[in-house]
Amino acid sequence: MRVTERFTGKTAVVTGAASGIGRATALLLAREGARVFAADRDFAGAQAVAAELAGMTAVACDVCEPDQIAALMDRAAREGGGGIDVVFNNAGAGGERAGIDEIDAAGWDATMNLLLRSVALGIRYAVPHMKDRVSTRGGGAAIINTSSVAATGAGYSPTAYAVAKAGVLHLTKVAATDLARYGIRVNAVLPGFINTNIFTSSIEMPEDRVATAKAVIAQMSANAQPVARGGQPEDIAEAVAFLASEAAGFITGTSLLVDGGLTIGQRHSWDPEAPGMFDALRALAEAPAQSSAQPPAQPSAQPPAQPSAQDGLR
Ligand SMILES: NC(=O)c1ccc[n+]([C@@H]2O[C@H](COP(=O)([O-])OP(=O)(O)OC[C@H]3O[C@@H](n4cnc5c(N)ncnc54)[C@H](O)[C@@H]3O)[C@@H](O)[C@H]2O)c1
Repeated sequence: MRVTERFTGKTAVVTGAASGIGRATALLLAREGARVFAADRDFAGAQAVAAELAGMTAVACDVCEPDQIAALMDRAAREGGGGIDVVFNNAGAGGERAGIDEIDAAGWDATMNLLLRSVALGIRYAVPHMKDRVSTRGGGAAIINTSSVAATGAGYSPTAYAVAKAGVLHLTKVAATDLARYGIRVNAVLPGFINTNIFTSSIEMPEDRVATAKAVIAQMSANAQPVARGGQPEDIAEAVAFLASEAAGFITGTSLLVDGGLTIGQRHSWDPEAPGMFDALRALAEAPAQSSAQPPAQPSAQPPAQPSAQDGLR
């Protein structure tokens, strides 16, 4: 049973709080004492989450609309008692799926607005309410932005999404320098393959196939990385809560990968079922000598077929 209450007396804003990572984080912060403003463009979903625990308020907010972000931050500061201590800029979806050889300006702009501009403006409109918050360990207020493993390399997501999430990492660093003078820390979290609604909602899966798709995703995610289970929204929520807490008072301008080791290295380095080149060479070296002129059978250097984590992963 959790006994800590790291956020008693604090006001927190979470975007994308109706589902997945945002929902889990909003609930964790509220469970640990924060007054949480749970914002989402899906207002009914945010209301359902807010109803789960005391101390939560649902707010309708589309993060592609600057006025709505400003109104969210103003309201949280006003109703939360005069300021904001924690902001989690997290709302997102898959964005435009076309590759760089096909994407058009509208698709590019929509994805950047949803995943990158929203974070910049979330910071912009929260900052006036976050200056000089009380802290015992330095770094009074904290902003955490959701990036992705897709920011670390190609193949985890569509192109525009990956570029936007890489932009979130750099935005996090420069914002941390701009805001250090106000005692505001800014960090990012990079989720790996996490079981949420994002995969089915981003491709508009027909309703009668969502359950099957989620079962496939659950199996793929359990098999995708060295930690042999699927990533869960609560795994990310714990990292966000740490970065938001006073225990992280000396941490700013950095990012935390929470991916079960997905991006550590090649699959054969952790999966005994996926032999690498040296496994193949060792098998060749240890094969019995052949008496005929026939070369020994070639061991395959190819790993057996595995569900790929690289198809549509956010
Ligand atoms: N699930 C993963 O594997 C994964 C991996 C890396 C990064 N992420 C990122 O994590 C964040 C949360 O995603 P999730 O996996 O929890 O997905 P999710 O679909 O479960 O939740 C996303 C939430 O964001 C909301 N949202 C979408 N567009 C919005 C908008 N314009 N304004 C306000 N709210 C909006 C949705 O309504 C939804 O409630 C996203 O930024 C996503 O890119 C997810």
